[in-house]
Order: sequence, then structure tokens, then C-alpha cells
Amino acid sequence: MEFTATAKIGLESTVAFQLHKLGILDTETLDARVKFHGGFDEMAKALLWLRTAERLLLTVGTFRADTFDALFEQTKALPWSRYLSPRTRIHVNGKSAKSTLFSVSDCQSIVKKAIVESLKAAYRVAAVPETEEEVIVEVGILRDEVTLALDCCGAGLSRRGYRTYNVPAPLSETLGAGLILLSRFFPDTPLIDPMCGSGTIPIEAAMIANNIAPSQNRSFAAEQWKFLDPTVFSRAREEARDVMRHDPLCIQGSDIDPHCIDLCKKHAKKAGVMLDWKVRPVKDLKTSWRNGVLICNPPYGERLSDEKSVNALYREMRTVFDTIPDWQINLITSNRDFEKIYGKPADKRRKLSNGGMVCTVYQYFAKRG
Ligand SMILES: C[S@@+](CC[C@H](N)C(=O)[O-])C[C@H]1O[C@@H](n2cnc3c(N)ncnc32)[C@H](O)[C@@H]1O
Repeated sequence: MEFTATAKIGLESTVAFQLHKLGILDTETLDARVKFHGGFDEMAKALLWLRTAERLLLTVGTFRADTFDALFEQTKALPWSRYLSPRTRIHVNGKSAKSTLFSVSDCQSIVKKAIVESLKAAYRVAAVPETEEEVIVEVGILRDEVTLALDCCGAGLSRRGYRTYNVPAPLSETLGAGLILLSRFFPDTPLIDPMCGSGTIPIEAAMIANNIAPSQNRSFAAEQWKFLDPTVFSRAREEARDVMRHDPLCIQGSDIDPHCIDLCKKHAKKAGVMLDWKVRPVKDLKTSWRNGVLICNPPYGERLSDEKSVNALYREMRTVFDTIPDWQINLITSNRDFEKIYGKPADKRRKLSNGGMVCTVYQYFAKRG
């Protein structure tokens, strides 16, 4: 079977890397997605372990269509009864870009009608009463090429379940994990986020360091699929529990706001990780740990009224981070003047999308003693 793991632009290589670590080597990396082939065991592992993928889709079929008739007939011809019972509730999501069939709502209703007709013919029934669990079908049309797929996730994969309270402007969990995977972090590397907000980066780092499957405490849409052997998921979860570690970690999150640190403690407890949390302004950052990775997501200064304070904060960060030259510094911001204000060109820049906003990760490599 063919699966597609969707990802934020800039994080595709981290998804392919994680698939390879799971032993899934047959991957193809494209813009904002990685395709791979495998069975349901691979699907369950990918759902539990992919830290930077947004969704996982199981391809049912692909074809070209530039008329509604072609869309209907080719959708109907796909083997829907292999996946759906004659009572499945079907919900169709859609998107279309650069295609003749641009009305997404029309495409959604045509696809739904075609699937119902296909099921009626396959099961020789007069109607599909839709009394069972919902299955989500995704129709994607790009340059008249239609892909029909089943959504394996339900809620997006960034919803790990540990972040129950929010602070303003939190990073998505997938982006937090992506920043760590793009840095030089290894399980025994010290890591600090000195502006940790709700704790996303330190918690994701702790899960990586202790080999904890990020989605082990949540459920997936695929677990409701009637055609799937339920032991697929119980086996994958058991394997994940067996390889999880509880090593003490040198990972710290700090923030100027005591309310944020209270939330971090709650979130870490829910995620099952033990970390060091501190209420501290970044100007007071000090550490005895050596050769670490600092990752942070400072305020961006989007509003004009914030500009002065954000500029002062970026300059303060430079002064403090210069006192730990053996640390690799990684900063993500959408502020285009960041390097000018910070006063130092980055060793490497990477563009990433953060909730529709284009951000840059500025990386300053460590000077090892
Ligand atoms: C964009 S948020 C970080 C969000 C975080 N990455 C998350 O996922 O929740 C920026 C954080 O910087 C903190 N902050 C602002 N000024 C600070 C300072 N001078 N020292 C330390 N933290 C500061 C804010 O309290 C806020 O939590």
C-alpha cells in the first residue's frame, strides 16, 4: 500500500529520516510530503513514531480528471469495499490547486456520491445507511491529478495530548520536534530553551532523548477501521513501551513568566517526562553544562508597538548567548531583520512554515574548546 506523510515545508527530510529509523526505507520525498510503501504494521508504527509529520494518508487511488463525470466514474471504479463496510459514515475533505475542477465543495459531494454508488454495487444493497463510525476520505487535486486517500489520523499528529493549556503563540509540537531534529541534538546532549512558553521544545527533546513514541497516549482514526486487525495497534504500542527509556536528562526550560512554568510542569507530567524548569529572564541565563544545544522561539515583534522591546530582547540574547560559545544556538523567528538586530550573521539559515507564517531558523554553530 502507498502512504503519504504530510509535513510542513522544510521538515520533509526529517520525516524521511524518521521513516528510515523505523526500517521503512522505500520513501520518496516531495514538497510538503513523503510517500512510502508498507503494510498496516508500518502504518501503525508511523502513526505512533513520526514526530514531524502533520497527517498520514492511505492512498486508495490516483487518476487524471478535468470533468465532474470523469471524477465520478473513476472514483466509483476504485475498490472502496476493500476499506469501507456498507454502513460506513463517509466524510469527504477536499482541496484543489491549479486544476480545472476548482470547486472543492462540488468535488467533495461528487466523490461522496461515487463512493456510495461503488459500495451499493459491491455489496448489492439499495442504500448505505451510514450508521457506523465515520471514515474520512481526502480528495486532493493538483494540476488535474486526483488523489483519493483515507485519513489514518483523525486529529492532526501534532496533537500528542500533553499540551492541554495554551500560552499565546505556542509552537506546534511537530515544529518543536523539527527544530530539535534539525539541530545537533543527541540523547545525551544538554538542551536549554530559555523562552519555553508552554514547554513544547524541552518536552519534545525529552521524548526524543528517552525514545518515547510521541503519539503513544492518543488514538487514531485508523483504530476504528472495521477491516483492520486491531492487534496491529496493540502490537505497535507494546513495542513502543518496550523501547522507552527513563534516563535522567540534562534538559531545561525557562521563561520570564511564572504562569508559563506552571503550565510546563503540568504538560511534562502528562507527557511522562522529568525536566528542569525555572522562572528566569533570559538575561540571567547561566549554565555549568557544556557543549549543549540551545533552541528558542522568542517573541517575533509582529506588531509595531512591540518593535522596541523585541529589538532590545534580541540584543540582550546575543550578549548572553555569547557567554556560552561551546553551545549551538538555534533561533526561530519570522522577524526579517533578526540578524541585523542580533548583530551576527547566522552560520546556517533554514526556512520553515509556522502556522501559515514563513519563519527562518538561524543556526550558530558551537566553538568547541
Ligand atoms: C513565542 S513564545 C514561546 C512559545 C513556546 N515555544 C511554546 O511552544 O509554547 C515566547 C516566550 O518568550 C517569553 N519571554 C519573553 N521575554 C522574555 C525574557 N526576557 N526572558 C525570558 N522569556 C521571555 C514569553 O513569556 C513567551 O512565553
